Amino acid sequence: MVDTKNQYHKIKAEVDSAVLQVMESSAFINGKIVQDFASHLSSYLGIKHTIPCANGTDALQIAMMGLGLQPGDEVITPSFTYIATIEVIALLRLTPVFVEVDPQTFCIDPAAVEKAITPKTKAIVPVHLYGHTAPMEEIMAIASKHNLYVIEDNAQAIGSEYTFSNGIKKKAGTIGHIGCTSFYPSKNLGAFGDGGALFTDNDELGVKLKMIANHGQSKKYYHDIVGCNSRLDSVQAAILDIKLRHLDEYIAARRVAADYYDKAFAGNKVIKTPFRAVYSYHVFHQYTLVLDGIENVTVVRDGLNEFLAKNNIPSMIYYPVPGHRQKVFEQFGGKSLHMPVSDWLTERVISLPMHTELDTEQLNFIASKVLEFINK
Ligand SMILES: Cc1ncc(COP(=O)(O)O)c(C=O)c1O
Repeated sequence: MVDTKNQYHKIKAEVDSAVLQVMESSAFINGKIVQDFASHLSSYLGIKHTIPCANGTDALQIAMMGLGLQPGDEVITPSFTYIATIEVIALLRLTPVFVEVDPQTFCIDPAAVEKAITPKTKAIVPVHLYGHTAPMEEIMAIASKHNLYVIEDNAQAIGSEYTFSNGIKKKAGTIGHIGCTSFYPSKNLGAFGDGGALFTDNDELGVKLKMIANHGQSKKYYHDIVGCNSRLDSVQAAILDIKLRHLDEYIAARRVAADYYDKAFAGNKVIKTPFRAVYSYHVFHQYTLVLDGIENVTVVRDGLNEFLAKNNIPSMIYYPVPGHRQKVFEQFGGKSLHMPVSDWLTERVISLPMHTELDTEQLNFIASKVLEFINK
C-alpha cells in the first residue's frame, strides 16, 4: 500500500546525517531536535502549541485527559473510523456515542451529531478520514451552541486544509480545541517507528497536555496531576523534521496519483471514486473506492481484493467492521444500533495503493486490473 523504502532513498543523505547527529549527541529522549521539530510543525500548521507524544492513540487519550473528561461523560464519535478513535474513549471509562458519517465524504455527519447530544455529552471527535477534512464549520457551530469540546482526529489528514464559508483557510487539526495526529510510518508524515502529536492554540491547555504526556510533572520529580509516559524520541523527531520539509511535495504526489485513478475510473457505473468537498483540500492518505449498483457487492469487493493480490497489487478494506459492531463495544449499542450508512460503507469500500512513489506505469497497471475485474 505504501513504498517507504523508495521514499527514504530520495532523502537518504539528509536522514542518515540527522540520525547520526542524534547518535553523536546521545540525547535520545527529549533532545533539542524534538522541540525544534515541534516548533517547525507548529509553524507549518499555524498553531501555537505542538506537543509531541508516542503515537496517535496516546495523543487522543492525552487530549481527553487534558480536557478533564470524567467517567460517564459522553463523547460523540463516528462509527466508521479506525479503532483507536473509539478505544481511548472506552479506556478512560467515558461513553462512546456512535454516529453516522456522510456516505460521500466518509466523515462525521453534523446532523447525526446534533441528534446524538444529551445532557451528558462533553465532546465530539471528528475524524478527517482518508485525508478528507470533516465538515468543521458545522461541527464547531454545534459544539459552541451546546458548549462541547472538539478533539480532531487528524491521524490521516496532516497537511489538509479546511476552507470556511468566509474564505478563511485552516489546516486540519488546528480548528477544534485540540487536534491529534499520528506519525505511524505509512501516514502522510510518517516516522521510522511510532510517533504522534497534539495541537492547541490554548496556552493553558498546551501546558497541561505537555505535563500529562510527561508523568503529570510541572518540574522534574514534582507531579501535580495524573499523567502518562508518552514521548516522541529524538531519532524519530530528527527524521520527521526532514520529512516535514517535503510534506507538501508528498501531498502533491498523492494528489497526482488520485487524479490519475479518478480519470481511469471516470464514467464506470460500478466504481465510485472519492468525493472532494469544496471546503476540503484532500491529502489522500487513502484512495478509497465505493462499489455500487451491483448485486452481491461484498462478494464482488472481496473478489476484487483477491484478484488484485493475485496480480501482486495490494488493496485493503478500511474498515471491514464499523465501531458499533465491534465485540468490544457491544455495551454501547452493539448490533441494536441502526447505522445503515456505516454498514453500507463497510460492505463496499476498497482502498488502492496510495503513496508518494507511484509512477504512471504502476498506476496504469493497477487501474487496468481493477477495470478488468469489474468489467468482467
Ligand atoms: C483515524 C486514526 N486515529 C488514530 C490512529 C492512531 O494512531 P497510532 O497508530 O499512531 O496510535 C490512527 C492510526 O492508525 C488512525 O488512522
